[in-house]
Amino acid sequence: MQFDRAAVAKLDLAAVKADLAAFMTKSQDSWPADWGNYGPLFVRQAWHCSGSYRSSDGRGGCDGARQRFDPERSWDDNTNLDKAKALLWPLKQKYGGALSWGDLIILAGDVAIASMGGPVLGFCAGRIDDLDGTESLPLGPTPEQEALMPCPVQGDCKSPLGQNTLGLIYVNPEGPMGKPVPEESAPQIRGVFRRMGMDDAETVALIGGGHAFGKSHGACPTGPGPSPEEAPDAPWPGTCGDGKANNTFTSGFEGPWTTTPTAWDNQYFQNLLAYNWEVHVGPGGHHQWRPKAKDAKSKAPLPAVMMLTTDVALLHDDDYRGLVELFAANLTALEHTFKHAWYKLVTRDMGPATRCLGPDVPPPQPFQAPLPPRPAGPAPDYAALARDISAALRRSSPAAEPDTVHGKPHYGALFAALAWQCASSFRETDYSGGCNGARIRFAPQKDWPENTYMDSVLAVLEPLKAGQPASLSTADLIVLAGTVALQEAIAEAEAAQQAEGGCKGKGTCGASGVRLHFCGGRVDAVEGEHAAHAQPPRVLANKILQVRDNAAVMGLSPREAVALAARPRSPSQQQRLGYSGSWTHTPSRVSNQYFKVLLGETWLRTNSSEGLEEFAAAGGKGLFMTPTDLAIKWDPEMLAIAQEFAADNKAFLQTFAGAWTRLMNADRFDGPDRNLCD
Ligand code: HEM
Repeated sequence: MQFDRAAVAKLDLAAVKADLAAFMTKSQDSWPADWGNYGPLFVRQAWHCSGSYRSSDGRGGCDGARQRFDPERSWDDNTNLDKAKALLWPLKQKYGGALSWGDLIILAGDVAIASMGGPVLGFCAGRIDDLDGTESLPLGPTPEQEALMPCPVQGDCKSPLGQNTLGLIYVNPEGPMGKPVPEESAPQIRGVFRRMGMDDAETVALIGGGHAFGKSHGACPTGPGPSPEEAPDAPWPGTCGDGKANNTFTSGFEGPWTTTPTAWDNQYFQNLLAYNWEVHVGPGGHHQWRPKAKDAKSKAPLPAVMMLTTDVALLHDDDYRGLVELFAANLTALEHTFKHAWYKLVTRDMGPATRCLGPDVPPPQPFQAPLPPRPAGPAPDYAALARDISAALRRSSPAAEPDTVHGKPHYGALFAALAWQCASSFRETDYSGGCNGARIRFAPQKDWPENTYMDSVLAVLEPLKAGQPASLSTADLIVLAGTVALQEAIAEAEAAQQAEGGCKGKGTCGASGVRLHFCGGRVDAVEGEHAAHAQPPRVLANKILQVRDNAAVMGLSPREAVALAARPRSPSQQQRLGYSGSWTHTPSRVSNQYFKVLLGETWLRTNSSEGLEEFAAAGGKGLFMTPTDLAIKWDPEMLAIAQEFAADNKAFLQTFAGAWTRLMNADRFDGPDRNLCD
C-alpha cells in the first residue's frame, strides 16, 4: 500500500490510543494475558522491533515493521511475538493504511507503558511498512549478512553487527556463551548498547524500566517448538501442556522481576540491591537468579521474583551499579531518563524530527540532530551565485590548488567532489547525514580520510558569500557549486564532442538538454550542537559488495550508483587520497567517457606509491581507476548498466542528472520551499 502522509497526519490518534488502552486488559482465549494485561507483551514487542537498530549503518529499527518477516520474525528473541501481532490485527484492520504496522507496534508499546503508569515522552508517527524482509537480510542470520559482515564467533559478534548473538536483540540473557557470569556480562551489555547509540544511564534505565513489567516464560525444559520459518502453519506452539498462559515457553527463563509486574515503579532496582542473588537452573532448564536474604538470620519472606544474568550484571560494574542505586532511590530520575531513552529507542531510525507526524510529537531531541531554523530575511540570489561559481571554476585561488585542464586552472571536479562528499553521507536506512547542516565542516566528518582537502576547496567558495544575504548557507553554497560545476561539465563535454565530430550513433552527442536541478533553503548546523551520528562509508575486502552496500545505505539503486560513479574525479585530489591519478585528464567534462574508458582499456592491477591498490590503463596512458571503479566491471548487473551507458550518452546523462538531484535533496525533510528551487 502506498504511504500517505496526509492520511497519517489526519489519523485520530486519540481514538487509536483509547482503543489500545481498552484492549490492553481484555484477555483473549487465543493467547491469554498474564495477570489479565497485555501491556508487558506489547512493551517487549515494541522494544524488539526497535532494538534491531544499529548505528554502524543505520539498519534495523521498527520503521518498515520487518519483525513480521523473516529473518527477524523467526529470531529466537522474537518467540511468540507472532501472537502479539495477531492480537493487534483487528485494530490494524480498523484503521487501515493510515496506521502502519510499524506505528501500531510502537504505539501499542507506548500505550502499554502509559496504561501501567509509566512515563512516555511522545509519539512520532510516520513509519512506512516494508513489503518483505529484504532490508533486514543484513541483520542476519542470512547468507547476505555472512557475506557483508560475518560473525565468526556466535555470541561474540562485533560491529557493524548490532547484536553480539545473531537471532537475539542484543546479548545472551543467560550470560556470555550461556555462562551465568554477571561480571563478564556487563561489558557485553555496554558494548552492544553503545552500538545502538545508548549511554550507560540510558542502558540501565531501559533494562530496569522495561523489566518493571511482565515476566519471563519458561514453564518446562522442552522449548517453544518450531519457529515460523520452520513451521509457518503453527509456529511456536509451545511444548509445555497447552503452551499458553502458565504453560508458555518463550525464552526458557521463568518468573517476574517484581511483585507488581503490571504497574510502573522502581522496584526492579530496589530488588537488585535488597538481596544477594543466587544462580540456579529454572524450570525452563536455563540459569537464572533468585533472591537470597542478605542477613542469613532474617526470617522475612522472600519475594517470588527472579533476575537474568544480564540483570544481575548491573550490580557487577561500578558505573552501572551507581545508576542502579540512583534509580532505586529516585523514581523521578528514573522516569526522566527512561522516557527520553525509550523515545530515542523507538524513534532513532526515523531520522530528523521533521519526519515525525501526528499530534503527540515532542520537541526535537538531541538524537535527532536538529538543525537551526532558516534565518529570516531575503532569500539568496541563487542565479547570481551560480554565475559567480561559474567564474570561480576557472579562477585560481590561493585557498586551494586547482586541477590543470588544457594548461588552465579548473576547480570543477573539486567542487563536485565537495558536494558529493557532503551529500553522500546521507543514509536512507535511518534518514541521517546529508549536506543540509554542512556538517562536513566539523569533526568527525571533516577528519574522514576521504574528506581530505575539502576544507581548502570550501575556502575557495566562501568568498562568494559576500554580497549575498545572511540566509545563504554554506550547505547551499556547497551543493550549488557542485551542481553548477557538473552542469557546465556536461555542456563542455557535449560541445567538445560536437567540435571533435564524434556525433555518430544513438544519443552520442549534441545538447542533451539534461539539467541538474537545484533547490535552496539548507541551513548550517552550529559546531558542537547536536552532532550528527554520521559514519564514513564502509570499506570491505570485496569491492563489489562494498559498492552495492554503500549504494544501498544511501538509498541509491544500482543504476543510479553506476551513473554517479562517472562523476569527474580530480587528478590532484586522487593523488591527495593516495592514488596515482584519475581515469581522465579532462575532469572538466562529464559524459559517458567514463564507461568507455572503464570498458575499453585493459586495466593492470598495481599499487600506488602510497601503497593503495589501484588499476593502471595498459600502455602508459597515465589513466588510473580504483578497485571500486573496477567493481562495476566485475559485477554482471552493474556491467550491463555500464555497457548501456557506454553506448548511449543521453541515457547516461539522464540517469546521472536524476540521481545527482535526488541525492543532493535526499535529506530535505524540511520540505524545501518551492520558491527556492530552479
Ligand atoms: C522480557 C531479556 C532489555 C522489556 C524479557 C525476557 C528476556 C529478556 C529473556 C523474557 C521473555 C519471555 O520469556 O517472555 C532482556 C535482555 C535485555 C533486555 C537480555 C538487555 C540486556 C529490555 C529492555 C526492555 C525490555 C531495554 C524495554 C525497555 C521487557 C519486557 C519483558 C521482557 C516488558 C516482559 C515481556 C512479557 O511479560 O511478556 N527480557 N531484556 N527488556 N523484557 Fe527484556
